[in-house]
Amino acid sequence: MSNWVRAHTNIALIKYWGKKDEDLIIPMNNSLSLTLDAFYTDTRVTFDDALTADELYLDDMLQDFTALKKVKTVLDLVREKAGIRSKAKVESYNHVPTAAGLASSASGLAALAGAASLAAGLELSSVELSRLARRGSGSASRSIYGGFAEWQKGSSDETSFAVPVDDADWDIGMLFIVVSDKKKDVSSREGMSRTVRTSPFYQGWLDSLDEDLNAMKQAIKKQDIDKVGVIAEQNALKMHATTLGAKPPFTYWSPDSLKAMDSVRALREQGYSVYFTMDAGPNVKLICRQSQLEEIRTHLLSDFTGSQLIAARPGPALHVVTGPEL
Ligand code: ADP
Ligand code: DP6
Ligand code: CO
Repeated sequence: MSNWVRAHTNIALIKYWGKKDEDLIIPMNNSLSLTLDAFYTDTRVTFDDALTADELYLDDMLQDFTALKKVKTVLDLVREKAGIRSKAKVESYNHVPTAAGLASSASGLAALAGAASLAAGLELSSVELSRLARRGSGSASRSIYGGFAEWQKGSSDETSFAVPVDDADWDIGMLFIVVSDKKKDVSSREGMSRTVRTSPFYQGWLDSLDEDLNAMKQAIKKQDIDKVGVIAEQNALKMHATTLGAKPPFTYWSPDSLKAMDSVRALREQGYSVYFTMDAGPNVKLICRQSQLEEIRTHLLSDFTGSQLIAARPGPALHVVTGPEL
């Protein structure tokens, strides 16, 4: 009987945006994220000689070829490493909206890397798991770890993986403003590829990253929530600026995203240490002190509904789940 493996999503404070190698998923830049407790994926893999093709059931629904593509990449690598020829049944439950900019590919593909290697009897190190998850979705390389993790870009399959940075066991949390849980029009993969190929702003993005990353690491070490927030917010805005220069241009922002950003600025004027970041989707993630999160949430209830406002704490590393936790 194979086991269920759980991976939590992560949100980048220094974004991964662009690939040097699209097949191996080697990124253009290092990125740094926080893994969160509120959103996660549970996945189980069963290799079965009776199957004639790999199957992916996501939330009990059999997925088509497009969704299977990322999954097959990971399964093929595991089969090759373990000397297995059987096809696999993958069962997965997302406790996060899928493809809505809430990082389902991070938790989804990290959980798959864990579950597939476990089912194949491979005992992989964290670095090997991170490399494997990376081949499914870049951001998944960071979801192997709890707390803060840095994906070091490296220059080859062997050297591109994430490492833990800090356990985040201090006064930091995130508040999600979910403005849409619908599937986005432009996937992260397509969005970053188009930007790298066509946006004249892309080089500007790359040029400012070393400074952001170093400053972010210092701020985390000092547990300085304001510095962490300021750098993360600026970094996210720079990333999103690159999409407007792409051909054809696009943006992940919706009117409600702008409304959420305004609410954050207003709260800041009232003295709260609160900042935002955004990924490939219209949802806005607030970075704040865990100890002020409920108060901030209460203020936001005048602009958003309770179900749109989801509180998250730093989350744990990839792990096997047993009975009561499922
Ligand atoms: P997101 O912002 O949710 O990460 P992406 O465009 O990066 O959006 O990735 C979404 C895609 O990731 C889905 O369309 C699907 O192919 C894949 N995915 C998401 N969750 C899972 C899962 N649990 N198992 C396998 N694949 C998944
Ligand atoms: C904006 O990891 O979803 O969320 O590697 O093509 O699967 P693929 O893309 P994905 O990209 C995430 C982009 C981002 C920033 C980040 O998480 O660092
Ligand atoms: Co993704």
